[in-house]
Order: sequence, then structure tokens, then C-alpha cells
Amino acid sequence: MSTQRAGWQDLYSHYESLSSVHLKDLFQADPERFSRFSVRQGDILLDYSKQRVTTETMQKLCGFAKEQGLSEQIKAMFSGQIVNPSEQRPALHVVLRDLTPEPLLVNGRNIKSDVQNVLARVEAFAEGIRSGAKKGSTGKRFTDIISLGIGGSDLGPAMVCEALQEYKTTDITLHFISNVDGKSLATLLKKLDPATTLCIINSKTFTTPETLQNAKAIKKWLAQTLGEKNNSLHLVGVTANQERAESFGLLKDQIFEFWDFVGGRYSVWSSVGLPIAILLGMPNFRAFLAGAHEMDQHFYSAPFAENMPVLMALLGLWNINFAECATQAIIPYDDGLRKFPDYLQQLEMESNGKKAKKDSGFVSYSTAPVIWGGVGCNGQHAYMQLLHQGTQVIPVDFLIAAHGHPEYEAHHQLLVGSCLSQSKALMEGTPTEALAADHLQHAKICFGNRPSTTVMYTKLTPHVLGALVALYEHKVFVQGVLWGINSFDQWGVELGKKLVKEILPYLESSAQTASLDSSTNGLINFFNDVQRKLY
Ligand code: F6P
Repeated sequence: MSTQRAGWQDLYSHYESLSSVHLKDLFQADPERFSRFSVRQGDILLDYSKQRVTTETMQKLCGFAKEQGLSEQIKAMFSGQIVNPSEQRPALHVVLRDLTPEPLLVNGRNIKSDVQNVLARVEAFAEGIRSGAKKGSTGKRFTDIISLGIGGSDLGPAMVCEALQEYKTTDITLHFISNVDGKSLATLLKKLDPATTLCIINSKTFTTPETLQNAKAIKKWLAQTLGEKNNSLHLVGVTANQERAESFGLLKDQIFEFWDFVGGRYSVWSSVGLPIAILLGMPNFRAFLAGAHEMDQHFYSAPFAENMPVLMALLGLWNINFAECATQAIIPYDDGLRKFPDYLQQLEMESNGKKAKKDSGFVSYSTAPVIWGGVGCNGQHAYMQLLHQGTQVIPVDFLIAAHGHPEYEAHHQLLVGSCLSQSKALMEGTPTEALAADHLQHAKICFGNRPSTTVMYTKLTPHVLGALVALYEHKVFVQGVLWGINSFDQWGVELGKKLVKEILPYLESSAQTASLDSSTNGLINFFNDVQRKLY
């Protein structure tokens, strides 16, 4: 994208022309504003009327997207073209939820049949575990499942299982271990019986140090009770690296593959979703896939002006590149989506937290914002103060279900009322007449004119959740296209992985060092002194 392009300059002047317009004036001037700036798709309503835009703004933004060749890029992704040039890969997470029969060839191979074959294996295995047909080495059924993984190999299954707890249809307990802080694993293993514990090792590369460290510890824990020969029945691999999984000692029929054309942060729909299938049952997992597929079809075919992912992406660009907002808050008023902000942190910041342009050189404009958030109403008693009266304008995505818990209607009305009040307060601010005589006016006034989008859905079902996740996946893709960056690689994480290999030997040997930078030397030496009980 060039900021010199006519479309961009035109948007810039348009933004300047709106600089003195307040959102509350836009609402006062147009009683129909909500109907003009909201879109329905299936069970989801997107209300973007509290964003600082006019009809002209949206026309210009959609025109800019067209000028940037967005339609062609959408078709390129769905058809399996190389949209990840630095790794020479397609990005085909949409195929994981596309059960239509038409073949899709990648390198001459119909990948849809591969996807369906693995899905069938996942289904059979999950049902075997749930029914007790698949047992451990002592003949006992599994009662507890540890899901190991980090990043995209953890955040998706963990978020979905949290969000859809009410759809749990087994008495099996699922435990997620992602970090390599031994406290978590030690606490968990104390509570579990190896004979009835299954461990799923989720790792696309099967080389991630944190996951392998945990996997080795669990393998040893199993062997201590079950014996070296028997622990493989208690270990499952989910990976794109079958060879490494087998050399770790996993049984071939307990390794579930996924592919290089699926990015880790886009992999929840693949065999990475095995914990979901075990916890919720395959019908619910398939409903989750179907919800995403419905959003895929909407994204692929809807005109930009009615296209939810495109609209969200364009509003993001408007706030980031013109209003210069550096962060974006995700505030679900839904305890089920407690982990959704964490999930979107990886999806958005690992996809678009880049300066490098897709082809060559570096961008001269902002790209991904810092994504943060937490559930409401809790945020109202923590950070909403800054959003109402702070020096920074922080756009918010509010997410809220129309249906809450059936036995707590009054609770849900307060939850919904609170969510709507927050977005209203951010939009209109404190009525100035209310504070006119108040000598403390300056401390009490909320400025308003602070943008938010509200995503309201009927109920947090597997189908709706699938659609919500796909909505954000496609929003991220559109922003990557418009910023001219590669949303599907993540070279920024490689340096840390390399440096840890340089540092570890000093920690393992308690050797003093002066060979690294003075900070790292000082920290290593203090760490080692403490190990030697010098403190
Ligand atoms: O953070 C880097 C990363 O490669 C993510 O993209 C990925 O989801 C995570 O680490 C885990 O990688 P793997 O699934 O290969 O263990």
C-alpha cells in the first residue's frame, strides 16, 4: 500500500474534515444512524454506528479496499495460492471447515480429502476416549486429559473449551498446560493418576522447547508408574511433523496430522481441536466448524459495504492509520469469552505485528495495534476510567450475547445494560449542562467521541463461536492485505528461540559468565549465585 495513493490521501483529507465532528452530533443529526451503520449476518449483529465515520467515510474506505485489490486477494487465499511468500505457502484454514465436495488441489493433491480423512480419525479417536472403548495400558478408561501446547497449539482449544463449557458432554476432565513454569505441571500431576491420564502433545513443528520440556516430564511421570513400554498408549501427538512425533515414541495411530498450509494461530479447526472434540463431542465440534464456514461464505461473497470482516478491518484502519490509535480493546461482556482477548492477541499481533512489506522494504505507516482486553463488567472497575477520561483514545470491540443463563435473567439484563451503557458513555460523554455549575467539572467530565463497535450475538453456541473466530481471522487477513504485509509468517519469534540456546548452558552449568551483554551476564550470575545459596 502506498500512502501516496490517491485513495489514501483522499481519506486523509476526509479525516481532517471530520476532526471537529463529535459522535453525539452525528447521532443527533441522523435518527436512523444505527440502521445505516449496522449489519446482520446469521446470528450476529455488528453495530459500528458508534465509530467516528460517516456514509462518505465508509464509501471512501470501501473504495480504498477495492483500489488495493482486496477482492483478488480474497480469491487468492480461498483458492490456495501462495499468500505467505516468505515461507512459500498458501493459507488454507478455510478448507478445514469446508465440507463441500468440490476438490481443492495444492501441489496436485486434493487437500480436502486429506482434511476429511484426518477429521474422521479425530472423530473416531475422540469417541473412543469418550466411550471408554480406548483405554490406558492398565485397562482403565481415561478420566483426565492433559493438553500440552503453546501459542496456536493451546490458545484455540483452551479458549473454545472455556467458551463452550455448557456444551460439555463427558465426565472427562481437560487440563491445559502451556507454559514451562514447572509449578503448573507439578501441581497438576500431583492430582492425577497416570493410569487414567492421556496426554495430547499439540505442536505443529514438534520442536517448541516449552512443549517438549513438558512432554518429556509427562512421559517420565507415566513411565514411573506404568513402565517404559506402556506409556505410549497414554500419549497422543497433533503435529505437522510426523517424523519427530514418532521419534519421540508416539504410536503411529495416535498421531494426528495437520499441514504447513495451516498457520498455528489458524489451526483450532484442525486436529489441534482434538481436545474440543473430546470435551464437547463431535457434533458440537462440527457445529463450530459450520459456523466458521458460514462466515467464510459471507466474507467471500458479500459486497464490502455489507461484509462484516471487511467493515471491521476498515474501521480498524480508520482508527489506527488516521486517528492514530495505538491499541485496540476487546471487551466481551461474556465470561465464556474470558480467553478471547488472549486468543486475539496472537491472531492479530502475530499476524500483523510487522513492519516488513510482503514483497520488499518496510511500511511507513502503523500496522497492528496492541490488542488487549478482558471481560466486562470487570473492566468497568479496573481500566474503563482511562477509556472514558484518559489522554489516549482506545477503540473498543464489545461482545455481548442476547441470551444469558436461563435462570439468571436479571443478571443478564444488568450485564447487557452495563455493556450498552459503556459504549453509550464512550460515544456521547457527560452532558455538559450536567456539570455546568460544578466547580469540579474538569475532573468529572467524560469527553465522549470515543469509538466502539458492539458485536451482539443470539447465544454463545458452537456455531456462533465458530463464526466469531472466523470473523476476526478474516478481519486480520483484510488488514494485512491493505497494509501490504504478510499475515502468515512470524519471523520475529525466531531470534528469542536462538538466544535461549546461548543462555541455557550458563544456567544449566551454574557457570559465571562475562561473555554476553552486561545485563544478561549480571542476571545469569545472580541466578547462579542464588542456586549456590550465596544469598
Ligand atoms: O509463537 C511462535 C509459534 O511458532 C506460534 O506461531 C505457534 O502457534 C507456537 O509458536 C507453537 O508452535 P508449535 O505448534 O510448532 O509448537
